[in-house]
Amino acid sequence: MISIDPWSSTTYKDYARLRDEFGIQEFTEELWKDLPHPHRLLRRGIVFGHRDFERIKRAIDKKQSWAILTGLMPSGRMHLGHKMVIDEVIYYQSIGAEIFIAVADIEAFATRGYTLKEAEEVALKEYIPNYIALGLKPDKCQIYFQSKREEVKDLAYSLGKKINWSQMVATYGFSGSTNMTHIFSPLVQTGDILHVQLEKYGGVKPTLVPVGVDQDPHLRLCRDIARAHRFFNVTLTKDGRIGIFVKINENVNKLLNIAEKNVKERGFHNVERISRYKALYLNDASANDIDMIEDALSTEEVKLGGYGFITPSSTYHRFMTGLTGEKMSSSVPESAIFLSDSPKEAKKKIMNAKTGGRVTLEEQKKYGGDPLHCMVYELFLYHLIEDDKELEEIYNRCKDGELMCGECKKKATELITEMLAELKKKRESARENISDYIAKDN
Ligand code: TRP
Ligand code: SF4
Repeated sequence: MISIDPWSSTTYKDYARLRDEFGIQEFTEELWKDLPHPHRLLRRGIVFGHRDFERIKRAIDKKQSWAILTGLMPSGRMHLGHKMVIDEVIYYQSIGAEIFIAVADIEAFATRGYTLKEAEEVALKEYIPNYIALGLKPDKCQIYFQSKREEVKDLAYSLGKKINWSQMVATYGFSGSTNMTHIFSPLVQTGDILHVQLEKYGGVKPTLVPVGVDQDPHLRLCRDIARAHRFFNVTLTKDGRIGIFVKINENVNKLLNIAEKNVKERGFHNVERISRYKALYLNDASANDIDMIEDALSTEEVKLGGYGFITPSSTYHRFMTGLTGEKMSSSVPESAIFLSDSPKEAKKKIMNAKTGGRVTLEEQKKYGGDPLHCMVYELFLYHLIEDDKELEEIYNRCKDGELMCGECKKKATELITEMLAELKKKRESARENISDYIAKDN
């Protein structure tokens, strides 16, 4: 039995198994190849899993509005592992997503021993300037603090009604000694993810949450909660039809009328109603139509006073290994390159990094190196080399024993120096522009 614990420091090695065990779907080429200029983290399988990404693809294809919501944990210094999420966010911004970024100050307070004030400082001094330096744009973008956004906290309270203690224990392994703010923090995260669908924030819409796979328990919780608040359930029935079932007990006939009218307008005419099952059966729809029907009915639910949440989608990226070969962690400085490291510090870390090289040069020439277990190669793969051909060449030359680790480390050092210098420069001007990004919550 494997488990995912969002607050532990486990490394996850076996991503395929993780995916299968938790019902995460594989992020296949099919999903990204038609996107505009697909990002390297998508192309290279670093984003390895997803839930309901098809919904996002459909919104992109149909030019409908959609949103990104993700969160940053304002603790410690920002390193290359943290850079991945924001790289993804910036990519999605470039293809039209509206961006919401939660500063998880309540979570940092609950689980990392920060005060809200300290968390705020870390966010403003460390993370946000780097986000801007990396290329986040202010238009259609807002960064907000969990503790300052009333809608997020209100949703956390109200939506929690549909989840009970046993479910929380089963998902997170909470015990009698877990503090209540910690216990509550997954619900705050659900509030983060779903509040962007409130009228005030533009209404119901497909929302993608790009995160590391450690966050999947929060996504499962949030998706369950979102679905639990829907008035309609749309599913494939045992006899192969699409059934639309009313889940609540009030206004059942009114809801069935509305659903029937809605699907007929969409071209499904062969509809059978069985009122005692609170159901409509569509004889001319298929499983591929389910999402579309669900989303169409969500707008109707909002008109009737419901939330109508569209189930949020997610993607999961692998974690970078630490340079030492162990977990990459802020608390082990030699395991990570921080975005504020000096070129000298970065160079030292790269020089000491674990590679897939052989013990002697001779052996390496004879047998080749092992790029898949090489931290220097990982730097190229995740961050430093954009051109797929160039990367492939390094891979092949390493395997064939033509490339030696010294040469690689030198190249990695040059590239990282360039990157860190540029970030440093951009951070300076970024600091002046922070207020363009921060939401004006009161
Ligand atoms: N729990 C996340 C972390 O540990 C931070 C976070 C808060 C978040 N709210 C979120 C992530 C909403 C994604 C979506 O890093
Ligand atoms: Fe890694 Fe380069 Fe050495 Fe190959 S040659 S093991 S890619 S550092």
